[in-house]
Amino acid sequence: MKDFNKPTLADLLGDMTADTFRTNYNNARTVHLPGAMSDQRHHLDFSELRALVENLDNAAEYWLDEAGVERSVSLDGKTAWQRAQEGCTLICNGLSRVSEPARALSESMIDGLDGEGWPGARLFYSTAFDYGYASHLDPFATFTVQVSGRKRWFASPTPERFDVQKLSHSVIMPAPGEIEEMPFFTFRHREETDMQSFDLMPGDVLYFPAGTWHRAVSLEPSLSVAIDIRPRILPEPEFEATVIRHPPPD
Ligand SMILES: [Fe+2]
Repeated sequence: MKDFNKPTLADLLGDMTADTFRTNYNNARTVHLPGAMSDQRHHLDFSELRALVENLDNAAEYWLDEAGVERSVSLDGKTAWQRAQEGCTLICNGLSRVSEPARALSESMIDGLDGEGWPGARLFYSTAFDYGYASHLDPFATFTVQVSGRKRWFASPTPERFDVQKLSHSVIMPAPGEIEEMPFFTFRHREETDMQSFDLMPGDVLYFPAGTWHRAVSLEPSLSVAIDIRPRILPEPEFEATVIRHPPPD
């Protein structure tokens, strides 16, 4: 009998079987799984999120100044939560350290896909129409679960190929028109026009392999959870909160 208390890889795949996923998509292609987590997303109910964030003493805020240079400042958790209410995107890393369902999903994904790595999960929360990070790629595969609100994703259909073990970066984000040189690899910035778009509704899941270019914009107040397989060289960070501040719209 299915254990409804512990979400699994099957819950992330919805109607798709694990065999179909392994054969056609795992580490190979981006895929939208509509409604996959509809019956299970109550496990990712973050009604306690506010208390978790407000208790942090290691939050940070990032923004770009007029010259396009990234700036950051340390915040306490209460201020970080307040910023999120004002429309900044709030990102919490290390979610599997505080959320048992997020941890169970991540571990189930690693086991179910015969993967190797650390469990990992991140939370993205925005009270407004807002975009988080600029176009980038991560050296780990992600199942992103739309918990509430609608979000538009842009993602390349297939990933860049590189050896994750040779990377020391957790995110690769060359600026528009620029190239990021690394010891073994070179990455050129990709625009959204090179990507496919996917509109995620509550309960939908989007899978993309390590090395997939992506960016997302919340179309309305939105909460989503990214369930990751983190390679051994990138253990999951402590639970921490980051707010991304963008210039107010014109
Ligand atoms: Fe990302």
